[in-house]
Amino acid sequence: MPSNDLTITDNRTGKQYTVPIENGTVRSLDLRQIKTSADDFGLLGYDPSFDNTASCKSAITFIDGDKGILRHRGYPIDELAAKSTFLEVAYLVLYGELPTKAELAQWEANIKDHTFVHENIRKLIDAFQYDAHPMGILVSAAGALSTFYPDAKNVGNAESRELQIARAIAKMPTLAAYAYRHRQGQPYVYPDNDLSYAGNLLNMLWKKGELKYKPNPVLERALDLLFILHADHEQNCSTNAMRSIGSSQADPYVSLAGAIGALYGPLHGGANEAAINMLRRIGSKDKVNDFIKGVKVGNERLMGFGHRVYKNYDPRAKIIRATAEQVFETTGRNPLIDIATELERIALQDEYFISRRLYPNVDFYSGIIYQAMGFSMEMYPVLFAIARTSGWLAQWREMQMDPQTRIARPRQVYTGPPVRAYVPLEHRNSAKPAQPASKK
Ligand code: CMC
Repeated sequence: MPSNDLTITDNRTGKQYTVPIENGTVRSLDLRQIKTSADDFGLLGYDPSFDNTASCKSAITFIDGDKGILRHRGYPIDELAAKSTFLEVAYLVLYGELPTKAELAQWEANIKDHTFVHENIRKLIDAFQYDAHPMGILVSAAGALSTFYPDAKNVGNAESRELQIARAIAKMPTLAAYAYRHRQGQPYVYPDNDLSYAGNLLNMLWKKGELKYKPNPVLERALDLLFILHADHEQNCSTNAMRSIGSSQADPYVSLAGAIGALYGPLHGGANEAAINMLRRIGSKDKVNDFIKGVKVGNERLMGFGHRVYKNYDPRAKIIRATAEQVFETTGRNPLIDIATELERIALQDEYFISRRLYPNVDFYSGIIYQAMGFSMEMYPVLFAIARTSGWLAQWREMQMDPQTRIARPRQVYTGPPVRAYVPLEHRNSAKPAQPASKK
């Protein structure tokens, strides 16, 4: 007789246990009852990189990695990319529905209301080294907002949460642009609230002496579309950081700082920067075969390929690749695209990549389009962070409203020595273990 539970036989003791199955999951805590003796702690799950552990329930984003499907609140990403604006998608991700005309107007006005940052933030950014990476600046500036808005501590207060969400989404482009202009040694440009979300960012990045900056409509739309594609991606590394920090009831700005830090890594949002460096190093299409050989023997990774969840073509990569061709009509062709398409062609028919189900991910083509649009490389992860702020905050908001939320606190498998006698200084022998090489 089928039933929605799982029976486990512990071969150490011969005992049987039945644990309920809900939404295709068992609760790890239900394993704790499985013990060899009364003083046994009980069975734990071991899953250091969350390969097969759901860390939360979420109604925001759905991914079917085998089929290459991504949906936000039920809407396929390709439809949102074709028909929506970034601020509409941010609203959808946050609040569950596409906004009505009136709601959208209110939402956009609300965001525009908060685009300026306190002048002391400028001073903070001024203090950074002249060539500081803008992601490092963004981590600090986002965290610093916590000190300007102490009311953000009221994470249990719905009104305060909504205020911080609007503030953070509105201010992130301003912080990002200031970080960029600092590195360029150029004066900061204040937000222009006549412009769209993406248009205003272009204004703050690239305005020179003109009285009024007019964004190129093709680039403005392309940037907005790239923001849509990066808005949320369920429980990825940085979102997990956001939720984990937020679970201690830290305010959203310091949680955002942690999430931006997680995004900075080359295995996550830093991958598009790494992918461009890789394409530059390869240099030409005829070097692709040699490069692939090096990847296969483990010398390095093919950046922008592979994904923990997608075992198929990342749907965002498909959209970016198609959009790149449209952008090139305005900007001129980025020659790196030819190396990238050749890499993709060769990799997708190579046994190494086929057997491991490695396909292009969002970062494979995003750097190429950003480069053609005129963004400097260190800004790529920053652009990712601006867009993902909506997703981080949606996940944070959902978590704050979830009655099942408790502080995130994983267990460990202790592998150190058992209790032993203290060794006085004069009797110690140096036994510093050799450092293992890190994983490529
Ligand atoms: N190039 C070459 N081999 C790879 C790659 C790659 N890009 N990705 C995975 N593999 C191999 C890996 O060596 C391993 O092989 P083996 O089984 O022989 O040891 C196998 O595929 C499984 O890899 P893994 O490291 O266990 O996979 P993971 O799920 O832990 O890592 C990943 C996922 C995205 C970190 C990884 O695929 C990677 O490093 N990709 C390159 C960096 C990148 O493009 N990151 C952007 C991810 S998408 C956007 C985002 O998250 O921000």
